[in-house]
Amino acid sequence: MTSELLRDLRVEPSILSADFARLGDQVQEVLDAGARIIHVDVMDGHFVPPITIGPLVVSALREQAERAGALLDVHLMIERPERHIADFLKAGADSITVHAEATPHLAYAVNIVREGGAGAGVAINPGTPVDAFAEVADDIDLALCMSVNPGWGGQAFIGRSLEKLVRVRAIVPAHAAVQVDGGVDLHTAPACRATGANLFVAGSAVFGAPDPAQAYRAIVEAAGAV
Ligand code: DX5
Ligand code: ZN
Repeated sequence: MTSELLRDLRVEPSILSADFARLGDQVQEVLDAGARIIHVDVMDGHFVPPITIGPLVVSALREQAERAGALLDVHLMIERPERHIADFLKAGADSITVHAEATPHLAYAVNIVREGGAGAGVAINPGTPVDAFAEVADDIDLALCMSVNPGWGGQAFIGRSLEKLVRVRAIVPAHAAVQVDGGVDLHTAPACRATGANLFVAGSAVFGAPDPAQAYRAIVEAAGAV
Protein backbone atom coordinates (compact mmCIF):
# COMPACT_ATOMS: atom_id res chain seq x y z
CA MET A 1 0.00 0.00 0.00
CA THR A 2 2.82 2.38 0.85
CA SER A 3 4.33 2.62 -2.58
CA GLU A 4 1.01 2.81 -4.44
CA LEU A 5 -0.14 5.90 -2.57
CA LEU A 6 3.26 7.53 -3.03
CA ARG A 7 2.97 7.09 -6.78
CA ASP A 8 -0.39 8.85 -7.00
CA LEU A 9 -0.77 12.52 -7.65
CA ARG A 10 -1.52 13.68 -4.10
CA VAL A 11 -1.67 16.68 -1.84
CA GLU A 12 -0.20 15.96 1.60
CA PRO A 13 -1.37 18.13 4.47
CA SER A 14 1.57 18.97 6.75
CA ILE A 15 0.61 18.99 10.41
CA LEU A 16 3.31 21.59 11.13
CA SER A 17 0.66 24.28 10.68
CA ALA A 18 -2.09 22.43 12.54
CA ASP A 19 -3.49 23.42 15.93
CA PHE A 20 -1.55 21.02 18.16
CA ALA A 21 -4.05 21.40 20.99
CA ARG A 22 -6.56 19.60 18.75
CA LEU A 23 -4.26 17.65 16.47
CA GLY A 24 -6.40 14.52 16.24
CA ASP A 25 -9.45 16.55 15.17
CA GLN A 26 -7.49 18.51 12.60
CA VAL A 27 -6.00 15.35 11.10
CA GLN A 28 -9.46 13.78 10.99
CA GLU A 29 -10.81 16.78 9.08
CA VAL A 30 -8.33 16.28 6.25
CA LEU A 31 -8.67 12.48 6.30
CA ASP A 32 -12.44 12.92 5.94
CA ALA A 33 -11.78 15.31 3.05
CA GLY A 34 -9.83 12.55 1.30
CA ALA A 35 -6.20 13.07 2.33
CA ARG A 36 -4.35 9.75 2.40
CA ILE A 37 -0.82 10.92 3.19
CA ILE A 38 -0.15 13.00 6.29
CA HIS A 39 3.18 14.85 6.33
CA VAL A 40 4.97 14.99 9.68
CA ASP A 41 7.80 17.55 10.03
CA VAL A 42 10.44 16.63 12.58
CA MET A 43 12.97 19.36 13.49
CA ASP A 44 15.81 19.10 15.98
CA GLY A 45 16.99 22.65 16.66
CA HIS A 46 20.31 21.85 14.95
CA PHE A 47 19.78 20.99 11.30
CA VAL A 48 17.14 23.71 11.36
CA PRO A 49 16.63 26.19 14.21
CA PRO A 50 13.16 25.14 15.42
CA ILE A 51 12.36 22.08 17.50
CA THR A 52 9.05 20.44 16.64
CA ILE A 53 7.91 16.91 17.28
CA GLY A 54 9.25 13.38 17.55
CA PRO A 55 8.23 9.72 17.49
CA LEU A 56 5.62 10.18 20.23
CA VAL A 57 3.41 12.21 17.91
CA VAL A 58 3.88 9.69 15.11
CA SER A 59 2.73 6.88 17.37
CA ALA A 60 -0.17 9.03 18.64
CA LEU A 61 -1.47 9.41 15.06
CA ARG A 62 -0.72 5.90 13.88
CA GLU A 63 -4.07 4.20 14.59
CA GLN A 64 -6.09 7.10 13.24
CA ALA A 65 -4.13 7.05 9.99
CA GLU A 66 -4.37 3.28 9.71
CA ARG A 67 -8.15 3.36 10.15
CA ALA A 68 -8.40 5.74 7.19
CA GLY A 69 -5.93 3.74 5.07
CA ALA A 70 -3.57 6.71 5.17
CA LEU A 71 0.21 6.92 5.42
CA LEU A 72 2.32 8.87 7.88
CA ASP A 73 5.10 10.44 5.82
CA VAL A 74 7.86 11.59 8.17
CA HIS A 75 10.21 14.35 7.01
CA LEU A 76 13.30 14.35 9.23
CA MET A 77 14.95 17.77 9.37
CA ILE A 78 17.47 16.49 11.88
CA GLU A 79 21.21 15.96 11.97
CA ARG A 80 22.53 12.40 11.74
CA PRO A 81 19.07 10.99 11.02
CA GLU A 82 20.46 7.44 10.93
CA ARG A 83 20.59 7.55 14.73
CA HIS A 84 16.84 8.10 15.06
CA ILE A 85 15.30 6.10 12.22
CA ALA A 86 14.65 3.02 14.37
CA ASP A 87 12.53 5.09 16.77
CA PHE A 88 10.39 6.45 13.94
CA LEU A 89 9.99 2.98 12.42
CA LYS A 90 8.86 1.68 15.80
CA ALA A 91 6.43 4.59 16.15
CA GLY A 92 4.74 3.58 12.90
CA ALA A 93 6.14 5.83 10.19
CA ASP A 94 5.17 4.54 6.75
CA SER A 95 7.82 6.54 4.94
CA ILE A 96 10.85 8.35 6.27
CA THR A 97 12.76 11.07 4.44
CA VAL A 98 16.27 12.13 5.43
CA HIS A 99 18.15 15.19 4.22
CA ALA A 100 21.20 14.63 2.05
CA GLU A 101 22.88 17.56 3.88
CA ALA A 102 22.29 16.06 7.33
CA THR A 103 24.53 13.00 7.21
CA PRO A 104 27.75 11.73 5.64
CA HIS A 105 26.04 8.30 5.60
CA LEU A 106 23.13 8.89 3.26
CA ALA A 107 23.11 5.43 1.63
CA TYR A 108 23.33 3.82 5.07
CA ALA A 109 20.39 5.88 6.33
CA VAL A 110 18.32 4.94 3.28
CA ASN A 111 19.14 1.27 3.88
CA ILE A 112 17.98 1.39 7.50
CA VAL A 113 14.63 2.81 6.37
CA ARG A 114 14.22 0.17 3.67
CA GLU A 115 15.22 -2.69 5.92
CA GLY A 116 12.66 -1.44 8.42
CA GLY A 117 9.97 -1.87 5.77
CA ALA A 118 9.13 1.81 5.30
CA GLY A 119 9.31 3.92 2.15
CA ALA A 120 12.69 5.65 1.89
CA GLY A 121 12.98 9.28 0.94
CA VAL A 122 15.87 11.69 0.42
CA ALA A 123 15.40 15.46 0.60
CA ILE A 124 17.49 18.35 -0.67
CA ASN A 125 17.49 22.00 0.33
CA PRO A 126 17.10 24.81 -2.22
CA GLY A 127 20.88 25.35 -2.28
CA THR A 128 21.77 21.70 -2.83
CA PRO A 129 22.34 20.46 -6.38
CA VAL A 130 20.11 17.67 -7.69
CA ASP A 131 23.21 15.49 -8.11
CA ALA A 132 22.85 14.74 -4.39
CA PHE A 133 20.24 12.15 -5.46
CA ALA A 134 22.45 10.44 -8.01
CA GLU A 135 24.09 7.68 -5.99
CA VAL A 136 20.99 6.69 -4.05
CA ALA A 137 18.41 7.24 -6.79
CA ASP A 138 17.83 3.53 -7.41
CA ASP A 139 17.21 2.83 -3.72
CA ILE A 140 14.67 5.50 -2.87
CA ASP A 141 10.88 5.63 -3.05
CA LEU A 142 10.72 9.40 -2.81
CA ALA A 143 12.86 12.40 -3.78
CA LEU A 144 11.91 15.54 -1.88
CA CYS A 145 12.88 18.87 -3.41
CA MET A 146 12.46 21.68 -0.88
CA SER A 147 10.89 24.76 -2.42
CA VAL A 148 11.63 26.88 0.68
CA ASN A 149 14.53 26.71 3.09
CA PRO A 150 13.39 24.18 5.67
CA GLY A 151 12.42 25.13 9.20
CA TRP A 152 9.19 27.08 9.02
CA GLY A 153 5.75 26.93 7.48
CA GLY A 154 4.21 29.83 5.63
CA GLN A 155 7.20 30.91 3.53
CA ALA A 156 6.92 32.00 -0.10
CA PHE A 157 7.54 29.39 -2.81
CA ILE A 158 10.99 29.80 -4.40
CA GLY A 159 10.22 30.14 -8.11
CA ARG A 160 13.49 28.57 -9.26
CA SER A 161 12.28 25.30 -7.73
CA LEU A 162 10.09 24.67 -10.77
CA GLU A 163 13.02 24.26 -13.11
CA LYS A 164 14.87 22.25 -10.45
CA LEU A 165 11.92 19.89 -10.02
CA VAL A 166 12.13 19.03 -13.70
CA ARG A 167 15.78 18.03 -13.18
CA VAL A 168 14.89 16.03 -10.07
CA ARG A 169 12.23 14.15 -12.03
CA ALA A 170 14.84 13.32 -14.66
CA ILE A 171 17.47 12.06 -12.21
CA VAL A 172 15.31 9.64 -10.17
CA PRO A 173 13.73 6.47 -11.60
CA ALA A 174 10.14 6.60 -12.79
CA HIS A 175 8.90 4.43 -9.90
CA ALA A 176 10.12 6.96 -7.31
CA ALA A 177 7.87 9.82 -6.21
CA VAL A 178 8.96 13.42 -6.61
CA GLN A 179 7.72 15.53 -3.72
CA VAL A 180 7.67 19.31 -3.46
CA ASP A 181 7.52 20.92 -0.01
CA GLY A 182 7.22 24.59 0.88
CA GLY A 183 4.94 27.36 -0.28
CA VAL A 184 2.58 25.01 -2.09
CA ASP A 185 -0.92 26.45 -2.37
CA LEU A 186 -3.75 26.92 -4.84
CA HIS A 187 -1.60 29.15 -7.02
CA THR A 188 1.71 27.26 -7.05
CA ALA A 189 0.36 23.68 -7.16
CA PRO A 190 -0.55 23.67 -10.89
CA ALA A 191 2.95 24.80 -11.91
CA CYS A 192 4.45 22.15 -9.60
CA ARG A 193 2.36 19.51 -11.27
CA ALA A 194 3.59 20.60 -14.69
CA THR A 195 7.18 19.74 -13.63
CA GLY A 196 6.31 16.06 -13.22
CA ALA A 197 6.29 16.19 -9.42
CA ASN A 198 3.49 14.07 -7.93
CA LEU A 199 3.39 14.75 -4.18
CA PHE A 200 2.52 18.24 -3.01
CA VAL A 201 3.05 19.04 0.65
CA ALA A 202 0.88 21.89 1.92
CA GLY A 203 0.97 23.12 5.49
CA SER A 204 -0.20 26.68 6.02
CA ALA A 205 -2.36 26.62 2.88
CA VAL A 206 -4.40 23.82 4.51
CA PHE A 207 -4.25 24.28 8.28
CA GLY A 208 -3.87 28.04 8.17
CA ALA A 209 -7.26 28.26 6.41
CA PRO A 210 -10.50 28.68 8.35
CA ASP A 211 -11.76 25.38 6.89
CA PRO A 212 -8.83 22.97 6.35
CA ALA A 213 -10.99 20.37 4.61
CA GLN A 214 -12.23 22.86 2.07
CA ALA A 215 -8.74 24.33 1.59
CA TYR A 216 -7.33 20.83 1.07
CA ARG A 217 -9.94 20.01 -1.55
CA ALA A 218 -9.34 23.29 -3.37
CA ILE A 219 -5.61 22.53 -3.70
CA VAL A 220 -6.39 18.98 -4.85
CA GLU A 221 -8.60 20.42 -7.54
CA ALA A 222 -6.06 23.07 -8.59
CA ALA A 223 -3.33 20.43 -8.84
CA GLY A 224 -5.56 17.93 -10.63
CA ALA A 225 -4.67 15.49 -7.84
CA VAL A 226 -6.68 12.59 -6.45
C1 DX5 B 1 9.11 23.28 6.19
C2 DX5 B 1 8.43 21.93 6.23
C3 DX5 B 1 7.17 21.91 5.48
C4 DX5 B 1 6.13 22.90 5.94
C5 DX5 B 1 5.56 23.54 4.73
O1 DX5 B 1 10.42 23.19 6.57
O2 DX5 B 1 9.24 20.90 5.72
O3 DX5 B 1 6.60 20.62 5.36
O4 DX5 B 1 5.09 22.34 6.70
O5 DX5 B 1 4.76 24.58 5.11
P1 DX5 B 1 4.04 25.52 4.05
O6 DX5 B 1 3.18 24.64 3.19
O7 DX5 B 1 3.29 26.45 4.90
O8 DX5 B 1 5.12 26.18 3.23
ZN1 ZN C 1 8.20 18.92 5.31
